Amino acid sequence: MRRYICIKYILSLLFCSFLLFAQDETGFRLLNPQISSINEERIASFVIEADSQKIDFISITTDANKTFSIEVNEERSHYCKSINLHIGLNSIKVAGYKNALVIKEQSRELFFVSKVDKDFRYPPEGYSKKHFHNQENEKLCIKCHDMSVNEVSGVAFEDITKSNCYGCHKSINKEKHSHAPSVNWLCTSCHNGEVGVFNKADKDRTKYSVPDPIEGVCFSCHKKYKEEWSKKRFHHEPAESGRCNRCHNAHSSLSEFYLKKPSWELCTDCHKDKIEGMHIVKTFGRKAHPTHNVKDPSREGKDLSCTSCHNPHASNAPSLLQSETSMGLCSRCHKK
Ligand code: HEC
Ligand code: HEC
Ligand code: HEC
Ligand code: HEC
Ligand code: HEC
Ligand code: HEC
Ligand code: HEC
Ligand code: HEC
Repeated sequence: MRRYICIKYILSLLFCSFLLFAQDETGFRLLNPQISSINEERIASFVIEADSQKIDFISITTDANKTFSIEVNEERSHYCKSINLHIGLNSIKVAGYKNALVIKEQSRELFFVSKVDKDFRYPPEGYSKKHFHNQENEKLCIKCHDMSVNEVSGVAFEDITKSNCYGCHKSINKEKHSHAPSVNWLCTSCHNGEVGVFNKADKDRTKYSVPDPIEGVCFSCHKKYKEEWSKKRFHHEPAESGRCNRCHNAHSSLSEFYLKKPSWELCTDCHKDKIEGMHIVKTFGRKAHPTHNVKDPSREGKDLSCTSCHNPHASNAPSLLQSETSMGLCSRCHKK
């Protein structure tokens, strides 16, 4: 009797899992992105394997209600689309239709991490970094994409579309200001497969890891700055710890110097208490000194910002002031 119940139990379990499995296969399979993953760049690649017998249409909808529509046809088995993320938690829905009726729906929750804003530095529980470039994943794409590295170290592509990385990652260099090695598709000059003290766990999980801290990679080309900054008396903690990518986007950005945000927003994300500007002139009764939204008299064509007075990397003056001495600072802008 007991054995019978047990078998019955196993059979029903098998049946349920079959149903689940079968349902999961109906119409399409979402090959990428993976479930509850942490993204460090603003792009996620959606790759959908679709069965044109069961669905004729796919939609991808972001939580900002932006929808991308894809028609399914017999000639093609896979459909690929890069989707832009916003900082924080993104919920993106994929739906498969037949004759305008939803056959199957699935969603992906992705956390686009900020290395500056404390509110978005840590993902909710259950999220983790899912690497793509291992043998098993690459096998799924090889039918249509060349997955090998065809870059010659230090030699820019004359025609960037010839880079094997371009087809899948073309959106990465699309912002206004692009960093030379990235826009020339010399991806492996930084993605050298190495890891650092802060990302030891990434070792061998992807062919294309970058070491964290990244400083050694940056200084391999920017030697001049390594020397210049190391001679200074005072150093800014995030730069000194070698984590250049907390402030800089190594690929491309809306801001000059490839900053992850315009400098004032960048600084005040970590230094929220400086938003008021009260720290500059400490006399009772005075208005706060401006720190933005006015022209900078010391830098033509630029607006006043934290970097008008502070060097983001290193300085010989206390508080990382841009002048050699604290005394000289005011006279950079206020001439008698
Ligand atoms: C059946 C062929 C096929 C397979 C298999 C395939 N792709 Fe694609 N993929 C394409 C084609 C063709 C394009 C060019 C854009 C287009 O026509 O949709 C493309 C474009 C892309 C893009 C760029 C999309 C964009 O919006 O810029 C990404 C990312 C991508 N593929 C990722 C993958 C990944 C990852 C895999 C494996 C999991 C994969 N693809 C498997 C055919 C395929
Ligand atoms: C078939 C498409 C495809 C091709 C070709 C491709 N990638 Fe990727 N890559 C992806 C996808 C998908 C991800 C996961 C992140 C995402 O969703 O966009 C990824 C992630 C990465 C990452 C993050 C680490 C990881 O493993 O997740 C790096 C770095 C990277 N790619 C570099 C490269 C470089 C360098 C090349 C060229 C040699 C390349 N990729 C070619 C699809 C591709
Ligand atoms: C100057 C160094 C540098 C170059 C060149 C570079 N990357 Fe990156 N890449 C990084 C760093 C650093 C990160 C980590 C993200 C961060 O902190 O902003 C990263 C992150 C990524 C990610 C996201 C990984 C994730 O976990 O979400 C992808 C995808 C990627 N790079 C692809 C590329 C591709 C493709 C190229 C070539 C066009 C390229 N990178 C060139 C330094 C570089
Ligand atoms: C493969 C060589 C190479 C690597 C690695 C590299 N860079 Fe660059 N970088 C360049 C080149 C080339 C330029 C453009 C020429 C110039 O202005 O020096 C540049 C320009 C810059 C600029 C703009 C400089 C200016 O005065 O406008 C910044 C900021 C920058 N890189 C930051 C970084 C950071 C941060 C890293 C590490 C994540 C890095 N670079 C890694 C080659 C590299
Ligand atoms: C705290 C944020 C922050 C960190 C961390 C940081 N930078 Fe910068 N970086 C900036 C800002 C802001 C600018 C633009 C300065 C300006 O507006 O004059 C800049 C400018 C630069 C420039 C252009 C030349 C210059 O001196 O203005 C280079 C090159 C550069 N950074 C490289 C690096 C490297 C390499 C690292 C890591 C060792 C790094 N940065 C770390 C914020 C940062
Ligand atoms: C990723 C977080 C982060 C960002 C972004 C950041 N800082 Fe800092 N900053 C720190 C930390 C950490 C310290 C050292 C601890 C402290 O004094 O709070 C520091 C210290 C300072 C100091 C005091 C240094 C001293 O010797 O007294 C100044 C000035 C400063 N930052 C200015 C800036 C400016 C200007 C920017 C924008 C370009 C900026 N910070 C962006 C984290 C950050
Ligand atoms: C007009 C020049 C000026 C501007 C603009 C400015 N600061 Fe300062 N900052 C100073 C001076 C001067 C000091 C030294 C004050 C002292 O020692 O009492 C200082 C000190 C600091 C310190 C270290 C001492 C402390 O009070 O913690 C930090 C951090 C700092 N500033 C961050 C910022 C940030 C972030 C911004 C942009 C929102 C900014 N500053 C804009 C002039 C400026
Ligand atoms: C990078 C340029 C810059 C530096 C350095 C700077 N200031 Fe200013 N300051 C400004 C600007 C811009 C204004 C706003 C002027 C306006 O509204 O027309 C201003 C306004 C002021 C005002 C208010 C004056 C008024 O007419 O309302 C005082 C006081 C002042 N600054 C004192 C200082 C002192 C003291 C220092 C040195 C610790 C200093 N500033 C450093 C750019 C600077």
